[in-house]
Amino acid sequence: MSFDPDILRKQFPILSTEVNKRPLVYLDNAATTQKPRVVLDRLVRYYENENSNIHRGAHFLSSQATEAYENARKTIQHHINARYAHEVIFTRGTTEAINLVAASFSQKYLKSGDEILISAMEHHANIVPWQMACERHQAKLRVIPMREDGTLDMDTFEKLLNKHTKLVALTHISNALGTINPVKKIIETAHHENIPVLIDGAQATPHMAVDVQDLDCDFYCFSGHKMYGPMGVGVLYGKEELLNEMPPWQGGGEMISSVSFTKTTYNELPFKFEAGTPNVADVLGMESAILFLSETGIENIAAHEKELLRYALDRLKQVDNIRFIGEAPERSAVVSFLFNDIHPYDTGTVLDKLGIALRTGHHCAQPIMTHFNIPGTVRISFAAYNTKQEIDILMNGLSTVRDMFG
Ligand code: ALA
Repeated sequence: MSFDPDILRKQFPILSTEVNKRPLVYLDNAATTQKPRVVLDRLVRYYENENSNIHRGAHFLSSQATEAYENARKTIQHHINARYAHEVIFTRGTTEAINLVAASFSQKYLKSGDEILISAMEHHANIVPWQMACERHQAKLRVIPMREDGTLDMDTFEKLLNKHTKLVALTHISNALGTINPVKKIIETAHHENIPVLIDGAQATPHMAVDVQDLDCDFYCFSGHKMYGPMGVGVLYGKEELLNEMPPWQGGGEMISSVSFTKTTYNELPFKFEAGTPNVADVLGMESAILFLSETGIENIAAHEKELLRYALDRLKQVDNIRFIGEAPERSAVVSFLFNDIHPYDTGTVLDKLGIALRTGHHCAQPIMTHFNIPGTVRISFAAYNTKQEIDILMNGLSTVRDMFG
């Protein structure tokens, strides 16, 4: 099927909105993507026709919703090529998935003197839960350094692995820099020392096919809302043997097998990690987003975004006084930059008046900003529905910014 972003855009109602009397130019896709009609319709269909609590009721609606929810788990299993559907745990998003592992895995395996290894380019969601776990268990957080181009220092990575390292937790793609990390190689190296690896895939799943068996990662976390699905839903993939060993995280209904005041026994996977009423509607919405991705073709999306990245970089490089932050050779459709010594916030505010949505600031990755000794960046991030014309509008917007502040 041929790929045409102008046709694809029609599936996204919000993209025909006006902001400040200008057509919306949405370039903040690393923060969240917009939702196609199929996802919006799925949410409405669930609440109009299927709404009921699952795994509990004996009635028609409940069994129908239970079946739809468990089918969505299978869709996601196949999408990431997990071995079993019960290795797919539904969470509120990537942040909750990482918190689950940081709490539960650490309770089982992390002892005083142990180490958790993360990288210098992590999102706060893959830093703070590990800091909290290390504090709780008197363990140490160690950090793989980053080079000036925004790539990881792989030599130091290998030296940091040692007999105290209990887990490596690393982003697949940096949200602030766009760097695509060599996660397969990192996993292989860590496994050589019998160290499990968690991958934060929030920025990867919208842009590339992910095969958890091929990567051989032990945990893989991602969010629905960054891949054209709803907010408030995400996935923790974990290898069955590890998830079985780990203690439950949150307690409540669903995650139990039997409860008495003297002893509670826990449910099997995946329910052991899904306490309380699940977010059924958004799981179904996420499933629709995955079907949308498959129908559009993730390889078509990747090729289109690569072309947008090339075009944007070519145009931005012609502008005087642009400083790019992050220039890794392997990168996703994200460009972070500073412009003419103008504070990123000022650039963002003027562009917003022109209908252009992008993110400015530290992008929930303050250590990256500290590394480069900057207050933040202006970040553009692309999705399947962006066009070169939108990049042209951005370039005109940057001229306006320069005229005002430059
Ligand atoms: N992590 C999101 C971003 O990069 C919110 O903007």
